Amino acid sequence: MPSPVLKATDLCRTFQRGPQVIQAVKDVNLEIAKGEFAGLVGASGSGKSTLLNLLAGLDSPTSGEIKVNGTSLDSLTRKELSSYRANQIGMIFQTFNLLPHRTALENVEMALYFTGISKAERRKKSISALERLGLEDRLDHLPNSLSGGEQQRVAVARAVVKEPEIIFADEPTGNLDKDNAHQIVELLAELNRNNLTIVLVTHDENLAVKYADNIYRMDFGLLAANGGRIRE
Ligand SMILES: Nc1ncnc2c1ncn2[C@@H]1O[C@H](COP(=O)(O)OP(=O)(O)OP(=O)(O)O)[C@@H](O)[C@H]1O
Ligand SMILES: [Mg+2]
Repeated sequence: MPSPVLKATDLCRTFQRGPQVIQAVKDVNLEIAKGEFAGLVGASGSGKSTLLNLLAGLDSPTSGEIKVNGTSLDSLTRKELSSYRANQIGMIFQTFNLLPHRTALENVEMALYFTGISKAERRKKSISALERLGLEDRLDHLPNSLSGGEQQRVAVARAVVKEPEIIFADEPTGNLDKDNAHQIVELLAELNRNNLTIVLVTHDENLAVKYADNIYRMDFGLLAANGGRIRE
């Protein structure tokens, strides 16, 4: 059994709001294998985004541990954690999160800004990523002159251009119609066939069942018993 790319142990994330304590993630134990397509499902408010943000190193757990390729995120310096976020992971969000005053090409180039590669190389890689996603005629478009599906493909290009090890996608199809939703998840599936690890948060159980190797179900901050695996 290969060692997991992501391993969460007794992970908790609590939010304090005045007198109210919200346990968004409670004692989650999870292992995601390299090359796995993991689907994370559950009702609104069940803690999916909170868990995803912890795994992506965007947020810190209240207690518990996350290991990436055997290294605890907790043990990383701030610089190493930034490097993890900049180089090893790609994020895709429901609302695309493109910079509105930057073109499609510039949005993708920005993802390479902190990787230390030259400007010319950043441009070349970004054009090639956009071409692979069928956006070669949209390089100079600002986000507001792209369709929703096109904007999300720019966001996919931005996530994959740095050749990350893991892609985290939080409801990437939430703002898309059915055809575009399937197109985006097909793109993720294709990346996964090339051994990229994918963690996909979705409300859409059909999408999860169709594409994910394993489905993990969150319920009131808890990951369902048996590790949440309902499909082998
Ligand atoms: N920054 C925060 N401060 C306080 N409470 C928060 C914060 N972020 C999330 N929560 C709470 O934690 C719980 C889990 O939220 P989370 O966003 O992880 O749910 P989710 O499963 O992603 O829901 P959705 O499907 O609606 O996106 C919710 O009750 C939410 O209100
Ligand atoms: Mg969410």
